[in-house]
Amino acid sequence: MSEQLPPFQAPTGTHDVLGPDSALWEGLIATFAQRAYRYGFSLVMTPIFEDVGVFTRGIGEESDVFRNEMYVFTDRGERRYALRPEGTASVVRAFVQHQPTTPWKAWYVTPAFRYERPQAGRYRQHYQLGVEVLGTDDPTVDVEVIALAHGFFREVGLSRVRLLINSMGHATCRAAYVEILSEYLDEHHDELRDEHREGWRQNPLRVLDCKNEACVEVTSKGPMLIDHICDDCRAHFDAVVGGLEALGIESTLTPRLVRGFDYYSRTTFEFAADALGSAQNAVGGGGRYDTLTEQLGGKPTSGIGFGSGVERILLARVAEGVTTPLLNRDLDVFVVDTTNDVSVATLVEELRVAGIATDRAYDQRSMKAQMKVADKSGARWALLIGPEELAAGEVTMKDLRSDDFNPAQSRVARSEIVSTVQELLTK
Ligand code: HAM
Repeated sequence: MSEQLPPFQAPTGTHDVLGPDSALWEGLIATFAQRAYRYGFSLVMTPIFEDVGVFTRGIGEESDVFRNEMYVFTDRGERRYALRPEGTASVVRAFVQHQPTTPWKAWYVTPAFRYERPQAGRYRQHYQLGVEVLGTDDPTVDVEVIALAHGFFREVGLSRVRLLINSMGHATCRAAYVEILSEYLDEHHDELRDEHREGWRQNPLRVLDCKNEACVEVTSKGPMLIDHICDDCRAHFDAVVGGLEALGIESTLTPRLVRGFDYYSRTTFEFAADALGSAQNAVGGGGRYDTLTEQLGGKPTSGIGFGSGVERILLARVAEGVTTPLLNRDLDVFVVDTTNDVSVATLVEELRVAGIATDRAYDQRSMKAQMKVADKSGARWALLIGPEELAAGEVTMKDLRSDDFNPAQSRVARSEIVSTVQELLTK
């Protein structure tokens, strides 16, 4: 006899999603898709792997994600590819390749791969829902993108999500600020946490992003980018904040918010879920990027977008105690058949064609065994067909959510069963 082989597990930091939990995933994706549609976005699908250069040049070789977290591989044709760690660079690569009419508004749902230290809310494969708009730097678009995200979190039941906002300025005013920040950090580098005490010069802005108490203490007393951006960037930022106010969307200016990728300029934002621990409380984040298209070989084109982690939203819902379903994935009927007559398969198909969510038992199991499955299935009604029903051209209908059951009074003509169920479903 052959020995049973040890079963495989999903890789560390990844997870499977099965029903009934998957109904929440479907619900989130459907809600996002519908919302994106209402805001004038269309779905974009791009490959899950790209030439590694899309990310070297896109998200920046100095970013933590690129340096420590990328899944890079060489294929059989000796090409260097990377699994996508985020959605934006791939979408911009597709924009540069296809040159669609601008403004181009695209939404996506995608897995993203980052070699992180796995913990609650931080995975090696997570899923993102996101949008990107390319071809305009109108602050109205920044407001729309933020409003889309803001409303989405409300729509999926989250009420304790705060919008944090900042401006990264553009390349020139940011470079001037980095010099001022560098002078400050040079004076105070002894007070920074180990990693930044020596390494701050490599990317001084990263120190602002550090959550370590010592770094927070130093940087919160230092110069802030928002106070050093040029007049144009300031006007752009004020227009965004004013636009949000006009829509009744509260935002908190967060001068130390710099975000993890090198491509950001001007508006940057994050949505923090207060119900989650501070290390993993970002349920979404994004911002404007004005040089990414050029980095990827296109003409200078301004863009803005955001991405939101599906797992984080679901964790935040649990932490806020939200239990409302987002999509009904309950079965309407479960067909229990002890005749194995071919007409039952026809009935099942008729029900499904008529839009009634229907399942049935297989393998000619006993009535008792089939009823057990029907009870577990979550269906509203069981439709029972035994030899008696078959001979009489009838079906016995049992409400699975009620204890009252009188078989004699629950018979429905086979020819009327579809309309009867449809009628009951509208009640
Ligand atoms: P990000 O902030 O790196 O931005 O990721 C977006 C969201 O994905 C985060 O706010 C978080 O909800 C979720 N997330 C990120 N990493 C993980 C992880 N390891 N495990 C679970 N969830 C995670 C971006 O990716 C940018 N592409 C957003 C953007 C779009 N910027 C402009 N356009």
